[in-house]
Amino acid sequence: SPSDPDLVERARAAKEKLGDKVFVLGHHYQRDEVIQFADVTGDSFKLARDAAAKPEAEYIVFCGVHFMAESADILTGDDQKVVLPDLAAGCSMADMATAEQVAECWDVLTEAGVAEQVVPVSYMNSSADIKAFTGKHGGTICTSSNAERALNWAFEQGEKVLFLPDQHLGRNTAVRDMGMSLDDCVLYNPHKPNGGLTVEELRAAKMILWRGHCSVHGRFSLDSVNDVRERIPGVNVLVHPECKHEVVAAADHVGSTEYIINTLEAAPAGSKWAIGTELNLVRRLANRYADQGKEIVFLDKTVCFCSTMNRIDLPHLVWTLESLAEGNLVNQIQVDKETESFAKLALERMLALP
Ligand code: 13P
Ligand code: SF4
Repeated sequence: SPSDPDLVERARAAKEKLGDKVFVLGHHYQRDEVIQFADVTGDSFKLARDAAAKPEAEYIVFCGVHFMAESADILTGDDQKVVLPDLAAGCSMADMATAEQVAECWDVLTEAGVAEQVVPVSYMNSSADIKAFTGKHGGTICTSSNAERALNWAFEQGEKVLFLPDQHLGRNTAVRDMGMSLDDCVLYNPHKPNGGLTVEELRAAKMILWRGHCSVHGRFSLDSVNDVRERIPGVNVLVHPECKHEVVAAADHVGSTEYIINTLEAAPAGSKWAIGTELNLVRRLANRYADQGKEIVFLDKTVCFCSTMNRIDLPHLVWTLESLAEGNLVNQIQVDKETESFAKLALERMLALP
């Protein structure tokens, strides 16, 4: 829907008043009405890296979700303030691993006598507490654009990986990209005693996958892939690695949001694409490339927005920018020093991956 012209003008004016004091980051899943005000757009890796690229900006306005803003706070200077335009913009996947549950899991691994062989690898989509746990135990963070490199690194440090919290990214990377078998992976269920696993299973496993998932990407099924192939002969199926293993296995291409954009940019005119990721991004790409004769459709027949990403809308952005322009610091995301120091270790290991 077209943005309210009055709000567009107010956002523009407030941003102009702030000048170099503000730097606006926008994740690819953000609404068009918000993305138009982003100084940079990116996938979660690019945004983590770019957050630290403007040390002169006093305010980093993060149009994305909570864990992204936390990561930006960890990676930016102490005098820089990270602001999330709506504090309710969380991520249900990140909420699936709490600090208490992960500490309990480590106890289970210790009891089973395997903790010493385990290197934690945590997806960016996790709280600062989980990142701190990861840093403390010698592990790294990864995103969907460097998960394979992160796992290769981890298997140089130890024999097993505890992958948090997205089972699908962990399984898809291990099996599709690294040639492991499904039997090398076990699923740790934080709601069951001992994760629902026996000591033997923990000892035999190479990948211990946390039982978390993204409910948006969970909507895509093997049927979605089969249906679209029937509907659109010759279609290329391109999905995000947060999709289930059977969906990823049936797809032609798999990658992060940035990879999806670059792939479509490079695609020849006349090519046809079905995209399995969040709908704001798919619609934007379909519109962008329509006049170049690239046919881009959503992989499923239902509508899949990420409801928390969508909480950041133009009214929230206007309120945020106007408040900052008036000198009122609102919705700051601040990670405590102790958590920050360990989480930063893990994030810096990711940034240093070859
Ligand atoms: P990327 O943008 O890193 O591919 O991640 C997608 C996502 O779900 C972020 O929550
Ligand atoms: Fe979290 Fe999924 Fe939304 Fe990404 S798309 S922010 S993983 S709920």
